[in-house]
Amino acid sequence: MATHSIAVIGGDGIGPEVIAQAVRAIQAAVAKHDRGHELHLTHLPWGSEFYKKHGHILPADGWDTLARHDAILFGAVGDPSIPDTIPVHQLLLPMRRKFDQYVNLRPAYLFDGVPCPLAGKAPGSIDMLVYRENTEGEYAPVGGKLYPDTDKEVAVQTSVFTRAGCERIIRAAFEGARKRPRKKLTSITKSNALLYGMTLWDVAYEAVRKDFPDVQSHSLLVDAAAMDFVRKPESFDVVVASNLFGDILTDLSAAVAGSIGLASSANVNPTKKFPSMFEPVHGSAPDIAGQGIANPLAAVLSGALLLDHLELRASADAVRKAVAAVLKSDTARTKDVGGNATTVQVGDAVVAAV
Ligand code: NAI
Ligand code: MG
Repeated sequence: MATHSIAVIGGDGIGPEVIAQAVRAIQAAVAKHDRGHELHLTHLPWGSEFYKKHGHILPADGWDTLARHDAILFGAVGDPSIPDTIPVHQLLLPMRRKFDQYVNLRPAYLFDGVPCPLAGKAPGSIDMLVYRENTEGEYAPVGGKLYPDTDKEVAVQTSVFTRAGCERIIRAAFEGARKRPRKKLTSITKSNALLYGMTLWDVAYEAVRKDFPDVQSHSLLVDAAAMDFVRKPESFDVVVASNLFGDILTDLSAAVAGSIGLASSANVNPTKKFPSMFEPVHGSAPDIAGQGIANPLAAVLSGALLLDHLELRASADAVRKAVAAVLKSDTARTKDVGGNATTVQVGDAVVAAV
């Protein structure tokens, strides 16, 4: 029996609610479709409650604990009673850098049966895969404050773009584009205004694209991209973007594909030297936490990305097919996609379809 060890961090708010359903779905899929494989789950109670009790969001040996696992399944963190900068800067962003999860993969797909906010879009017509740089760029913790809390306060926030960092994410995106039927790639830039970082990004793009003559690629300014994500989202296949641009554009791609409650993501270290982390794009949604009405499908689809990463392809496909079947039929859907089912009812329907 091949065992895959997975660290599970539900986190805060709706995080544990949706992750419970993702765990059920991936367990059921592996038991049925990848016989001879077994998922071994370790549940870790880290997040804002842990912080309030202990003064830190994970224990001192927490990173070592995570490093011993094959993958991490993560819900969301964020609690209105503590500043958002604590979970983001003590857990989320350090994890991406410590484990060098430089590829943030965010698919957006318009499933059959999901109401689209744009008129006249057929199921499957929106099918894009965003590769967001995940370790440097605009989210590098570089900068400082001068004269804080005075009326002459100054803030310096520095972006960090490295040739190697740009090249490796752009290369990963081209490799991803090569495997998709349309073989199309759009590189998001803003080099007309950001003279240093974004021109380096463009240089890296021009260098890497030479190795992929079979992929049709072009470069697009981020503001034009935002417009086209709404105006003609079907024109995008693979999109590669910096940390900030990718973050913003993927909330937009999630919205045009029906709901943030369907948006999955993977934070991948392609070398597998450290564990990769899989999480829904959404946050802890304190406005609906504890009500049992959160859509678990973003978490479930993140579970499918985790199974892809573990090369349990039959299980991963079974989970995606089950989600598609549940969304197409009207048996169980949560409020954000036009129904009134509970989180658990949707989880039940996925498990049954798997
Ligand atoms: P959010 O994604 O938690 O919620 C935005 C809106 O979408 C809310 O109206 C919420 O009810 C709805 N929503 C989100 N997920 C849903 C789901 N699965 N089903 C149905 N509706 C859903 O973003 P918000 O409100 O900006 O942030 C809330 C907290 O989450 C903050 O503390 C923030 O820092 C944190 N956050 C954490 C993230 C993470 O852990 N990766 C990512 C984004 C936000
Ligand atoms: Mg975001």
